[in-house]
Amino acid sequence: MSVSLTGLKVFVRTFGCQMNENDSEHIAGILLGAGAARAEGPEDADIVVVNTCAVRQKSEEKLYSYLGRLSQMKKKRRFLLGVAGCVAQVRRADLVGKRPDIDFVAGPDSYLDLPEIVGRAAESPVIRTEFGRDWKEIGAASTVRQSAWSAFVPVMEGCDNFCAYCIVPFSRGREKFRPLPSVVEEVRAAKSAVEIQLLGQNVNSYRDPGSGTGFAGLLEAVAAVPGVEWLRFITSHPKSFGDDIIRAMAAHPKVCPALHLPLQSGSSRVLERMNRGYTREEYLALVGRLRRSLPELLLMTDIIVGFPGETEEDFEATCGLLREVGFAGIFSFRYSPRPLTAAAAGPDDVPLEVKRRRLIALQALQRSIQAGIYRSFVGRDLRVLGTGPSPKGAGRFSGRTAGNLVVNFDAPADPAGRFVTVRITGSGPYSLHGSALENGDVSVFRGEN
Ligand code: 5AD
Ligand code: SF4
Repeated sequence: MSVSLTGLKVFVRTFGCQMNENDSEHIAGILLGAGAARAEGPEDADIVVVNTCAVRQKSEEKLYSYLGRLSQMKKKRRFLLGVAGCVAQVRRADLVGKRPDIDFVAGPDSYLDLPEIVGRAAESPVIRTEFGRDWKEIGAASTVRQSAWSAFVPVMEGCDNFCAYCIVPFSRGREKFRPLPSVVEEVRAAKSAVEIQLLGQNVNSYRDPGSGTGFAGLLEAVAAVPGVEWLRFITSHPKSFGDDIIRAMAAHPKVCPALHLPLQSGSSRVLERMNRGYTREEYLALVGRLRRSLPELLLMTDIIVGFPGETEEDFEATCGLLREVGFAGIFSFRYSPRPLTAAAAGPDDVPLEVKRRRLIALQALQRSIQAGIYRSFVGRDLRVLGTGPSPKGAGRFSGRTAGNLVVNFDAPADPAGRFVTVRITGSGPYSLHGSALENGDVSVFRGEN
């Protein structure tokens, strides 16, 4: 059923991770492709799609409070309200049916059908949450990118790992890999993007469905696309990070020396109960191999505190590992039980006050470790990709280094989307600062070289 949405205005609101940001770019692209126009906000939209995250309880709570606000608006003005993404997938029956304000629910595998879903939802509520077995090609044409110079490109979807705390295998389904030629095609098509970020829940398990080429081969193929200056990828799983990927990273200067390598816990006992598939020692050995091949590498990680059964000793093991590795940044979370997961079947037995205390202690420790790492860059000239004016004030701009550190700097003109060389003169725990070098500007635009 082909549906025209001409004359209707659409607003897409995103909660959650980078994968969701990218999905929202697709959702907007698909609806605009069917004729809809963009609304500035929910106030002037005929269709509002809320794209959600279910990974942690907190993100789900944010969604419900936003939906509450939209429900109030709906009492005054008619528009179609849809929920997409992970919460849509796992809470489908609780949404449509129990909440008459919601007109449609669309799981992550149904976005290509959105024009039709919206068309039907005008008559009666629609739930569409089936998973297909194969990759669904959405394509570059149906993507409305948020940034001209940095493009997120999905390479896989879903996860087969079933970590005991994680809802993703249920909300995103089993692993599906995007064919390598279509990844390369999207990278080629994103002509203005000097930075490419490959996306997936577990990118290093990638296999091209056609040729069987693994993630190392995919990195090489993308790095070879003319105009790609910086290549990154998220997220990697420590248990399947092969030496071939390390070799590919070391061989290609365009692959940035930055890696997000979720640890979750520094205690082997907890890791085993989380079903992570590696021990503390194996994680440290992997970090050692990475650093031997990539001396400039900066590591980021995810930590959960208060997983069921986590003792003070387990928590101390996590703190010790943070000191030993020296991460350039962490995302840290209090454990929350999620529906359908293995851990949710047992007790959530670490008291909330203990989780809170551990999280605060962990973040304080990381802050001091991070301050030291940032300080080590003072005095260096770093290549920075400008992102625009700094929120800090007039005449200052922000950007990121290849290692993904935030830099605030003075420059004669807005360097958004350009590479500049910045002399680093100072640092804090979350950013570097300095001044752009006048003759260090290496402004590269794709297509010019
Ligand atoms: N509770 C707390 N944190 C969680 N994460 C995933 N599931 C949970 C949960 N149930 C965290 C993990 C993961 C990140 C995306 O979210 O650290 O890497
Ligand atoms: Fe969740 Fe584990 Fe899969 Fe990551 S690897 S998405 S934490 S199940």
